[in-house]
Amino acid sequence: MDNLSVQIPGLIPEAPSPWEVVPQGEAQATQAIEAALAAQVRTAAVNAPARRDAHPKAHGCVTAEFRVLDDLPASLRAGVFDQPRTYQAWVRFSNGFETPRDDKIGDARGMAIKLMGVEGSPSGTQDFLMINNPTLFVRDAVDYVAFQSAGSNLLRFFFPSWNPFTFRLRELWVMRATISQTVTNMLNIRYWSVTPYLFGDMPCKFSAKPSGPAFAFNATVGPNFLRDNLAKSLSSAEAAFDFCVQLRTKPESMPVEDPRIEWREPDSPFIPVAHITIPKQSFETPEQTAFCENLSFTPWHGLDAHRPLGGINRVRRAVYETISRLRHDINGTPRQEPTASPTHIRPSSV
Ligand code: HEM
Repeated sequence: MDNLSVQIPGLIPEAPSPWEVVPQGEAQATQAIEAALAAQVRTAAVNAPARRDAHPKAHGCVTAEFRVLDDLPASLRAGVFDQPRTYQAWVRFSNGFETPRDDKIGDARGMAIKLMGVEGSPSGTQDFLMINNPTLFVRDAVDYVAFQSAGSNLLRFFFPSWNPFTFRLRELWVMRATISQTVTNMLNIRYWSVTPYLFGDMPCKFSAKPSGPAFAFNATVGPNFLRDNLAKSLSSAEAAFDFCVQLRTKPESMPVEDPRIEWREPDSPFIPVAHITIPKQSFETPEQTAFCENLSFTPWHGLDAHRPLGGINRVRRAVYETISRLRHDINGTPRQEPTASPTHIRPSSV
């Protein structure tokens, strides 16, 4: 697994884990996705600065504490959850599609967590990326290329021909389920990893569930009400989430290579392994906004014990690295990973 710490843009891991099956065409599809997203970032960067191609609109980047629970059974002790301890963290809340975009428009909503001071991680950090739906509207890299090729005419992706056998009805259903949710406060909703990861020596998915009282700031005034409601909420009280894992107990109905399929909670419940506290704070300084903009979150920042699994995660390894490097190059900003103290950063080699 040592070679995983060397990130070479354009390459996917040579050796998939025992749970993975690499389909034909994945390497070519990954290169096509990278090239298309890089072109989009370059085009959009005409209106500087260059931004993330996905999840470009941040509602806020906040400091947090991630406390691994004390009383976990041995089966839930792995990676960063190996010992009870508290990590300092950053949490970036985002919209999925392009910016500027009115928060009233249906979208995927993101919660990206970055733990700092993670010994054994090549980046020194452990990132957990989540959205507000348990499933994804594409199965694999090849399908993602079809999604990209459809451009703004998504009907071409869902109904590629008159032949009903080519219809992507599950994908349409997942897309609708994601973007039709009414979201008024990022602190009041639940998030899922969507794709699987290792939890020690078995696959898992993870999820963050709000665990405190719901915030009452839910006005939908103006295009950026999610930022406004986040700011008002955190100026009034701290927020809390349970961070939970769902272990893969039934391989036949809990696929690793198909994130369109939900792992059903009756088959394996999500179990809390950590508690996230987002203290009362004001996060809207220009310095903090710029710091957050320059961070890079990727499922591949972290411990081997939480190695990302499945085709969509293999694609993300190359793509996130390339897009992060590109936007930092265009903006002339160094890529840096924050260290244990929220105010300290170090150059990023991964
Ligand atoms: C083939 C599938 C995917 C592609 C091509 C893709 C692409 C990207 C890219 C290019 C970025 C910006 C990276 C950067 O510049 O630092 C990004 C960010 C993000 N992606 Fe994905 N993504 C995919 C799947 C997913 C999935 C399944 C999730 C579900 C959790 C997800 C959640 C996120 C989130 C939350 C962010 C924002 C991270 C931040 O706050 O900086 N993505 N994605």
